[in-house]
Amino acid sequence: MSAQDQVNILMVDDQPGKLLTYEAILSELGENLIKASSAKEALEKLLKTDVAVVLMDVSMPEIDGFELAEIVRQHPRFQKTAIIFISAVHLTDLDRLKGYQHGAVDYLSVPIVPEVLRAKVRVFAELHRKNQQLARLNSELEQRVVDRTQELERKAVMLEELNRDLGQRNQELDAIVHTAPDIIFSRQSDGTRDYISSRFYEYTGAPPDSAVGVGWLEYMHADDREHSLEHWLRCAQSGETYECEYRLRGADGQYRWFRARAVPLRNPQGVIIKWYGTCSNIHDSKLLEQSIRDNANELERMVDIRTAELRRLSNRLMTLQDEERRRIAREIHDGLGQELAAAKMILDGILVKDASPATRQAAMDASQLVDRTIKQVRTISHLLHPPLLDEVGLVSALRWYLEGLSERSGIAIHLEVDPPDLGRLRPELETAIFRIIQEALTNMFRHSGAHNGIVNLTEREGHIVVTVRDDGKGIEEQVVQFRPESVGVGIGGMRQRVTELGGRLRLANANPGTIVEVVIPSRQQERLIPATA
Ligand SMILES: Nc1ncnc2c1ncn2[C@@H]1O[C@H](COP(=O)(O)OP(=O)(O)OP(=O)(O)O)[C@@H](O)[C@H]1O
Ligand SMILES: [Mg+2]
Repeated sequence: MSAQDQVNILMVDDQPGKLLTYEAILSELGENLIKASSAKEALEKLLKTDVAVVLMDVSMPEIDGFELAEIVRQHPRFQKTAIIFISAVHLTDLDRLKGYQHGAVDYLSVPIVPEVLRAKVRVFAELHRKNQQLARLNSELEQRVVDRTQELERKAVMLEELNRDLGQRNQELDAIVHTAPDIIFSRQSDGTRDYISSRFYEYTGAPPDSAVGVGWLEYMHADDREHSLEHWLRCAQSGETYECEYRLRGADGQYRWFRARAVPLRNPQGVIIKWYGTCSNIHDSKLLEQSIRDNANELERMVDIRTAELRRLSNRLMTLQDEERRRIAREIHDGLGQELAAAKMILDGILVKDASPATRQAAMDASQLVDRTIKQVRTISHLLHPPLLDEVGLVSALRWYLEGLSERSGIAIHLEVDPPDLGRLRPELETAIFRIIQEALTNMFRHSGAHNGIVNLTEREGHIVVTVRDDGKGIEEQVVQFRPESVGVGIGGMRQRVTELGGRLRLANANPGTIVEVVIPSRQQERLIPATA
């Protein structure tokens, strides 16, 4: 038994020998035994300690047991303390009755039977211990009740504060919702609208609260309902943000465009519990957008028309230019050329007639001069429009042209034709190809610094492929990209001719040198790129 569990047993007797006897008998109970040799000492001990059982001798000097018991009982703390009287003299039933009247719980007479005394004291000690435990448990229980009550009170206060806070937040939210220019709504997870802000009612003129559920649908344009509902059902299933445009009927009966947007609110498990959204009036911006789109389309259409017109004009210009060149070439050849031939004949006539040596020498010089002029005139005429192009075709005209250029420029230029017996092509195609090669070779002469050049003319799979390649310094990347600021009239014209014929022009660096490649459909209906491009 621990010291904490021990109870106090007070033994009161004026004879020390008896006290020792009681001590010997009770010691085996393991309780705390306190001795008092007088009623006074007993009272002192009682006031200082909590006593479970008082073993009291009835006959003591000064204050006897009965008197002591009475004093003890009067004290509120000791009203339930077990008092056992021991007496060697008073043995009558009356004596016992007196003992009980003075608050005894038991009465033992001498001689004491140790087992009886021990058994009785044990019972009361145990009773006292149980009472003490019960009192302890009671006070613990009471403390717990007090703690719990305090906690509940604290929680009640917190809840009240939270409620107040919530109320304030609600007021703030209401203020925001009412000042927002958009309609604000919420939907349950099944899709029914459970809240629509006052903006909706202001705009539609709908009776209060009539729009929740599916009531608002009545104000949506009939043509927009199916699409918007379908889209909503898809979003409600997938959980993706809902975005949709539709028309709503205003109180004035006019439909205006709105854009709705709603996002889901999920619980911690990820399940959608609600949707919140806004619906904004986008009518004006939508009309503006539409008018901008219409204007842009109109502008594009006008640009297309202008471009086609310009293309037609420039095509016509090139055709006229070719024809004019042909006419001037003929004029020079047939007019100037013939006149010069006539002049030469006259000069040669002078030579055969009798003339002074000085005149003959002058006539000879003049004749040689006219000869050189005739040659120059013919070259100019041929360069303007090689007569061979019309008469014997592209390949022969190219051979003649390349020969002359090689001679004049010092660049060795070769012509390769595949198939070697390439026949005649459409006249406009032959002229265009001749002019393209002419410009490419002029560029080679002017810009490349090349020593060698190859012109390749191939017909395969319904296309004419022309490549003009040199071993010069190469072409700049900006020109390869056809940057407008880097391209001149030469390449610009080449490109235009090729495009007109439905073909494609490509420039590339050959490292070393430059490649100009042209692919044109050899039959008119095949076009690599649309004519409008
Ligand atoms: N074979 C080439 N080698 C190197 N650079 C070239 C070659 N061909 C063209 N270029 C470059 O491309 C540029 C554009 O050529 P393009 O024929 O369009 O104009 P241009 O020859 O300068 O003037 P023009 O309008 O008189 O033809 C040239 O200025 C030149 O720098
Ligand atoms: Mg050029």
